[in-house]
Amino acid sequence: MAFPTHRPRRLRLGGPLRELVAETRLGVNDLVAPLFVREGISSPQPISSLPGVSQHTRQSLREEIAALVDLGIPAAILFGVPAHKDEIGSGAFDPNGIVQVALRELSEEFGDRIVLMADLCVDEYTSHGHCGVLNSRGDVDNDATLEVYCRAALAQATAGAHVVAPSGMMDGQVGAIRAALDGAGFSDVAIMAYSAKYASGLYGPFRDAVDVQIAGGGNRKSYQQDWRNAREALREVEEDIQQGADIVMVKPALSYLDIIAQVRSRVNLPVAAYHVSGEYAMIKAASANGWIDHDGVAIEQLTAVKRAGADIILTYFARWFAERAQ
Ligand code: PBG
Repeated sequence: MAFPTHRPRRLRLGGPLRELVAETRLGVNDLVAPLFVREGISSPQPISSLPGVSQHTRQSLREEIAALVDLGIPAAILFGVPAHKDEIGSGAFDPNGIVQVALRELSEEFGDRIVLMADLCVDEYTSHGHCGVLNSRGDVDNDATLEVYCRAALAQATAGAHVVAPSGMMDGQVGAIRAALDGAGFSDVAIMAYSAKYASGLYGPFRDAVDVQIAGGGNRKSYQQDWRNAREALREVEEDIQQGADIVMVKPALSYLDIIAQVRSRVNLPVAAYHVSGEYAMIKAASANGWIDHDGVAIEQLTAVKRAGADIILTYFARWFAERAQ
């Protein structure tokens, strides 16, 4: 019997030795916490399809951010749930829109102690639930939408956002927003572009969180990417970089690890990945049934996203992970 001379198991035998040779280390500093703030409520509202996540009041949002700062989470990304929606989503750029009001309060209270990111889109604010304004045929009008996005970017920057994160997948959105910000003296406000965002089935719980139903049972396939395509994602990323993106994002994360890895190997900007609501909810639901181990699977999945090449992970597990790491 020939004994093997190569013995990879040698390095797996002891706990500290496994730690020493681990190639990927997930840390609190990698994480961005997505948070929801809702207009016109007096107490936080739990989101049933996102256990552990709530729609915040302005007050509970400040408390949540204070806890994240104490835990060392470097950034939060805000989503607004307005009391009223309209055709063009004017709550996204109204200085008194819920996210703008919240940003003003947060930047006053926390200054530079946490990076305040604002998701930049209109779907939470439109009556029809699309990520843009509609033309007379009911289709999303790309260029008319860009004008609304520019107004939203200026409103968010004025209110104190450090980073704006356009998520609507309109063509030219990064360049338009960069020009608008620079033109108004906001050249220090960074753009984290949702560059390769797929028309995924994994956003369902998020749409509960922001009270969005797409009109007529519609979908976002005319602007978000077809999940059969990988090369197209690389083109989207390249275009966003040319237009001035500071950080590029792939979304969702787990089903798109190949895209994350390819983007990482091609670009030299920070790469973000969004571990989305459905990915979180699947772990919560399966573990609640006793079918998988919650903590083990959550850490395995987030580590896999980092191993694939993400420098930054947006995840609803951020606070849990940071508390666990204490
Ligand atoms: C659009 C937006 C969505 C998410 C983030 N930004 C929803 C969508 O595209 O339908 C989804 C995030 C998640 O599922 O966690 N503003």
